[in-house]
Amino acid sequence: MKKQIVKELNAFLKGNYMAIESYERFLEKINEPEIRKIFQKIKANHEEHAKLVQERIRNLGGEPVDSSGIIGDMVDWMDQFKLETKELPHIIKDAQTGEFRGIKKSKEMLENDLDEESLSLVQNILEKDEEHVALLTELLKSLP
Ligand SMILES: [Fe+2]
Repeated sequence: MKKQIVKELNAFLKGNYMAIESYERFLEKINEPEIRKIFQKIKANHEEHAKLVQERIRNLGGEPVDSSGIIGDMVDWMDQFKLETKELPHIIKDAQTGEFRGIKKSKEMLENDLDEESLSLVQNILEKDEEHVALLTELLKSLP
């Protein structure tokens, strides 16, 4: 049971690593200081989430996966992004697509048999990701 939870949390952790990596790539394309600030904030949130999930896995007696192996896994993930574009609306929509994927994964996790503490952790991260979507939607609307 614990082993299964660790396995699921590790899959979830990988998703967080991918989010961090995607925001890193988005940031390479963004020059506007105000928009960079928002993307950096969201990226920092994901880094914080990754740390919390790692901590939870360790507390369950498991070993958190590291982020070194994710680039290969990311090919699939990045496929959905229009990476060639540097246009802000596209970048923001790509970021949202990534967030929606994370949200979907969180919701699947919530349906699984997690212990109470892991459940509340995933729930909190899900809420934060929903805030990210809202932030990005506001940002889209604010563009000239
Ligand atoms: Fe997010």
